[in-house]
Amino acid sequence: MVSTPIESILNEHRSFAPPEDFVANAVINSQAEYERLYAQAQANPETFWAELAAKELHWFQAWDQVLDWQPPHAKWFVNGKINISYNCLDRHLTTWRKNKAALIWEGEPGDSRTYTYAQLHREVCQFANVLKQLGVTKGDVVGIYMPMIPEAAIAMLACARIGAPHSVVFGGFSAEALRDRLNDAQAKLVITADGGWRKDAIVPLKEQVDKALGSDLVPSVANVLVVQRTKQTIPMLPGRDHWWHDLQKGASADCPAEPMDSEDMLFVLYTSGSTGKPKGVVHTTGGYNLYTHMTTKWVFDLNDMDVYWCTADVGWITGHSYIVYGPLSNGATTLMYEGAPRASNPGCFWDVIEKYGVTIFYTAPTAIRAFIKMGEHLPQARDLSSLRLLGTVGEPINPEAWIWYHRIIGQERCPIVDTWWQTETGGHMITSLPGAIPAKPGSATKPFPGILADVVDLEGNPVADNDGGYLVVRYPWPGMMRTVYGDDDRFRRTYWEHIAPKDGKYVYFAGDGARRDEDGYFWVMGRVDDVISVSGHRLGTMEIESALVSHPSVAEAAVVGKPDPVKGEEIVAFVTLENNVNVDEDLIKTLKQHVVSEIGALARPGEIRFSDALPKTRSGKIMRRLLRSLAAGEEISGDTSTLEDRSVLDKLREGA
Ligand code: WTA
Repeated sequence: MVSTPIESILNEHRSFAPPEDFVANAVINSQAEYERLYAQAQANPETFWAELAAKELHWFQAWDQVLDWQPPHAKWFVNGKINISYNCLDRHLTTWRKNKAALIWEGEPGDSRTYTYAQLHREVCQFANVLKQLGVTKGDVVGIYMPMIPEAAIAMLACARIGAPHSVVFGGFSAEALRDRLNDAQAKLVITADGGWRKDAIVPLKEQVDKALGSDLVPSVANVLVVQRTKQTIPMLPGRDHWWHDLQKGASADCPAEPMDSEDMLFVLYTSGSTGKPKGVVHTTGGYNLYTHMTTKWVFDLNDMDVYWCTADVGWITGHSYIVYGPLSNGATTLMYEGAPRASNPGCFWDVIEKYGVTIFYTAPTAIRAFIKMGEHLPQARDLSSLRLLGTVGEPINPEAWIWYHRIIGQERCPIVDTWWQTETGGHMITSLPGAIPAKPGSATKPFPGILADVVDLEGNPVADNDGGYLVVRYPWPGMMRTVYGDDDRFRRTYWEHIAPKDGKYVYFAGDGARRDEDGYFWVMGRVDDVISVSGHRLGTMEIESALVSHPSVAEAAVVGKPDPVKGEEIVAFVTLENNVNVDEDLIKTLKQHVVSEIGALARPGEIRFSDALPKTRSGKIMRRLLRSLAAGEEISGDTSTLEDRSVLDKLREGA
């Protein structure tokens, strides 16, 4: 990383005020109110968070210090005693919400189940007792490798209930990836299923667990619990493997939530760095509970009539914070869907919205770009009139994709919250509050109250408005990660030492490039590892990609730098076209010219390559690192275990 800041060349000036009828019922309903909250939190963050913690959550015992900040280590609500499963379940049972739908689930084959708060509580208590029976005690790590079925959420909440930190591994990861994560976390037990449904096929999860464990490849694991989902025959190892339904049947439903220390580990979740082994991101109990609770409440503007659907997988942080913990802590109805758009039903998401009257829909830019490519006739054939709020997360959203989302899915009626955050941050950091902050397509807008975000150079000095730089956070917040599991030194190096601490003041470095405009809006420009250096100018990927995507023929684009003896790097663009567009020399010329006219000659791609698909991680992020190697004609090195579809890479290579 060099110290020259990143330059911004994007020209995007559209703005969308919150619709009046949305504002009329919004929890935070004016810019002035947002500014008041922000100023209050900035003036005294401890008081701000403490008041909310006392008001919004149940504590078995109050804390005696709000924040203990020994950079880079923060402790929140020191000596407070709390249980997030209690806050997500028990406390709703003494209210009218007892029989409200907590979790609505739709399976890919079309089966469905609904759990009320009382029912979910009962299942969680029983399963917590099953875990205890198998010898799991407070502090033992439990691995969860599950399809998107209610038992995944039940397992997480049961772990939280007895103080056993969970480590959810995304069900699409290979046996090797699972093994590494289970070993790193020293998991005592694994919860899985025979299989899960995905794109009309069975994902054989138990088979992967057997491979991961081998005869003794993960010595810490003593037991495996298996949910019966897909019902194909699977081997069960006597003594080690147990059917969930067998043990659940006889288990007592009496299991009081364990009062946990606010700083007890709630979970470890692995996130892949671009190089090196995955980092186990550690989150603790009290701060995470508060932070996901407040962001869910304010960003999604939740009320009791909402049917809230986040399309992420529980294997990602988005699933942890915004399918399970945040919504349930708020007493909301959260919807979980097992399936994905597939050849046999490309419009399945719109079916789910219509069937359940979904009011809030939260998805990723990669999904939105896929919807665009599949065609607007699919959503237009369904009744989406129940929707009132849309959200996006995972990557910067290209303004043209934003506009499509707004027009076709939101029918120009729904605000869009573009939420910038990370596994490490626990919850939303920069995001609009839908009734208060006008949206600008492509900008995550403003920091959440209590988040002191800034854009700085490598020395930690703020850069001028509209100059690019490094996105940082200047003060601890309750949802922040506490360390890298088993590697505190890596925690320090990765997040706190890139920007040198000044006068003992540490800043959290997120790894993203960004700029802040004259209205205080943040524009994330992509990962700084992906910055392209052309003739001394450092360009973020997002802006050039957005320029390409704004051309009607382009569905998706990824740009990378290729070494160039004169310019340092030359821009190579990988482009996926809309259906029915043919590649010829004219198109290449047109697209290059389009980028020049949108953002300037500097960003003109030297080369454009076409492909049916781009290499992505399993959570849908474009893996530019691999494209960079391809563009340079190098062998692909580094970790490719998170790649969603290897054949995409092979095809790109053949086309080269
Ligand atoms: C990117 C996902 C721009 C960013 C919650 C971040 C975004 C990384 C946005 C974290 C957004 C996520 N706008 N970029 N709204 N949301 N990112 O850990 O680069 O899977 O650092 O967490 O995704 O990804 P993670």
